[in-house]
Amino acid sequence: MESNWANDFYKMQYKFIGNYPEGYHTKAANEILEQAGKPVESMLELGAWDGSLARALSNQVGQITTVELIKEMVEKAKSLNPDNIETVHGSFYDVTIKHKFDVIIYIDGFGVGTDDDQLKLLKNIKHWLKDDGCALIDVYQPEHWKKADGVEMYLNRRDMPHIKRRYSYDFEADIMMDTWWHEKDEKLNSTQYLKCYTPDEIHNLCRRAGLNVTGYFPHGAMDYESMKYHEHASLKECLSYRIKVVK
Ligand SMILES: C[S@@+](CC[C@H](N)C(=O)[O-])C[C@H]1O[C@@H](n2cnc3c(N)ncnc32)[C@H](O)[C@@H]1O
Repeated sequence: MESNWANDFYKMQYKFIGNYPEGYHTKAANEILEQAGKPVESMLELGAWDGSLARALSNQVGQITTVELIKEMVEKAKSLNPDNIETVHGSFYDVTIKHKFDVIIYIDGFGVGTDDDQLKLLKNIKHWLKDDGCALIDVYQPEHWKKADGVEMYLNRRDMPHIKRRYSYDFEADIMMDTWWHEKDEKLNSTQYLKCYTPDEIHNLCRRAGLNVTGYFPHGAMDYESMKYHEHASLKECLSYRIKVVK
């Protein structure tokens, strides 16, 4: 199942953000390889945007397959990718992929849809993983997003001067909502809805999919009083954390 909003939101987000500058993903790529903890011959990237992270990884990984929902991003990726990246247009809920991978990554974006959707995706990940492989998945932390409820800000006043975003939180369903709009044309707005999971909750969901969490890597946190981002945060306070899972 694919949530109806995902197509509209990510297409709009891509239009507003445009291309990342050269070198933007270098640090993230090195971090992923360090967390994988061994040489990577084959990698699957889910929700691969325009392929820019895969390209940053492609000189250190033998073969990469990417899956992305938005056609425009897939076309951009195909126009720039080197030969060792295969780009697949489709949804990670129902795409057919015949290979098995050493490493599977889903960086920023896990939580689209219901718990059953996440379970389905985790089961797919298990199916695509080699027996000694691992997956790295970013998960939104509910405690952080509760504090963000009602916060409004410009995304990037220099590069996107008129684009604003508002965070809200559904306290019943533990869903963070992220609405973007153009301040000169409020009709141009769209929202993403991501289910947040505590470390215990995601651990249990992974168990149901036949996966074991072997590591938690917290990302940074935004301080909404000072509106400053801190690169390091605890697992409880971070905006999102990365889990490492194995079969
Ligand atoms: C928040 S963005 C993150 C992009 C990229 N991984 C990054 O870290 O910059 C989520 C990405 O997942 C893609 N996506 C969302 N639902 C998807 C689905 N069902 N199948 C494949 N890709 C999907 C979106 O189009 C978008 O490119």
